[in-house]
Amino acid sequence: MDKTLIVYASDHGTVEKCSRELFRLMDGKVDMCNLNRREFLPDLSTYDSIIVGGSIHSGKIQDVIATFCNEHLDLLAGKRIGLFINCLYSGAKAEKQMDEAFPEVLNQKAIIRDYFGGEVDELKLNFLERIITKQMIEKEDLVVALSKEKIERFANIISSANEEKE
Ligand SMILES: Cc1cc2nc3c(=O)[nH]c(=O)nc-3n(C[C@H](O)[C@H](O)[C@H](O)COP(=O)(O)O)c2cc1C
Repeated sequence: MDKTLIVYASDHGTVEKCSRELFRLMDGKVDMCNLNRREFLPDLSTYDSIIVGGSIHSGKIQDVIATFCNEHLDLLAGKRIGLFINCLYSGAKAEKQMDEAFPEVLNQKAIIRDYFGGEVDELKLNFLERIITKQMIEKEDLVVALSKEKIERFANIISSANEEKE
């Protein structure tokens, strides 16, 4: 049976929530690895599919995700890849953030890439973060929401690809 690893980093819980939802929706053997909490990285070579997910802050994905992708680029490029981000922008701006979040080779290689939307929980944000997000939302009239449909579609595409190979 194909094995899938979800590697992710989450500042205030949205990416974690989406990763758990993917985990719940996907068939087969699925493991999760939170790069902010891990003590060791699982052996990537043992996985058939690897999903990488992070969130965008001030236009950038977390350093820990960028470093993970670059350090393991050759190995990742040989796997079935899925990439996702959480962010508040949608459309062309979200696409651009996604393009810049991951190395070109992974963007090209991915069988699915998507942005799932974002969340803003004022209780989890510090003063500055609250001001930044408030300004973003008001200036651009952004809709703060997660797309359940996109998460389901993403999980289905990886699960189907895992099954096809068997
Ligand atoms: C300080 C700050 C800066 C942000 N900058 C961006 C940004 O540049 N573009 C964007 O689309 N979303 C931005 N966001 C929205 C986050 O990507 C969104 O809140 C996401 O749900 C965070 O996920 P996480 O809590 O798992 O890290 C920002 C959020 C914060 C708190």
